[in-house]
Amino acid sequence: MQQYIIGNWKMNGTKAEAQKLATGFLNRIQEATRPLPHIVLCPSYPYLTSVIEILKHSPIDVGAQDCHPEKSGAFTGDVSAAQLLDVGCKYVIIGHSERRRYHHEGSAIIRRKIESAIKIGLRPILCIGENAEEHKTGRTLHIVSQQLASDLPSDQKPHEFLVAYEPLWAIGSGQTPSLKEVEEIMGLMKYELSTRLLGGALIPTLYGGSVTAENAADILNLPHVDGLLVGGASLKLDEFWEVINASER
Ligand code: PGA
Repeated sequence: MQQYIIGNWKMNGTKAEAQKLATGFLNRIQEATRPLPHIVLCPSYPYLTSVIEILKHSPIDVGAQDCHPEKSGAFTGDVSAAQLLDVGCKYVIIGHSERRRYHHEGSAIIRRKIESAIKIGLRPILCIGENAEEHKTGRTLHIVSQQLASDLPSDQKPHEFLVAYEPLWAIGSGQTPSLKEVEEIMGLMKYELSTRLLGGALIPTLYGGSVTAENAADILNLPHVDGLLVGGASLKLDEFWEVINASER
């Protein structure tokens, strides 16, 4: 499977910075001499159209960081999957731990968002993962399997979405689970997905949380890791390019 390297820019930067980064990646892609992974950049809403315009003839896709489950209506401040598709997005991150934490999003709304994105033709990237306490008390596998059961709609097709394992305590902290832990959890995710859905083993499973140019290759080389979801390091052109180049497939 071709690997995925996804950059989550979160609520960072200015329009000029987003344009500069997108142009920088475009130039690197044009000069690349080796096959590249799927690359997806996820800027904040106001910069989506500028970034999409810059990357429109390139293999880099653009995604959003969230969407509302309804197609349209009186939902002040929200953006629907249909609107994201309309401006040229291909992907949307759903259930990121920062949405769960600061916007109190739970499984019911996350499932509806996934359904609405898939229905309209966007590919959701579902984020799951345990918090520090759950990690410390050895409940990671249980939490991950529980989240897969509660957050994923049951009747989806494997090519329609991706799942990212992002331990909450690893996000933005500089800490990561050991390679052995990542391998074990990603193996469990593949197993759960393949028992839940026909062809579920084909669903790309990504790791996210303090990915850097230093640790990317080791993580990408683990079995069952089909890509990376990268926050902080995706805002740095040189470092993210190194992460992209750490991918082998
Ligand atoms: P980080 O963020 O790479 O900065 O830890 C990852 C994420 O939140 O998706």
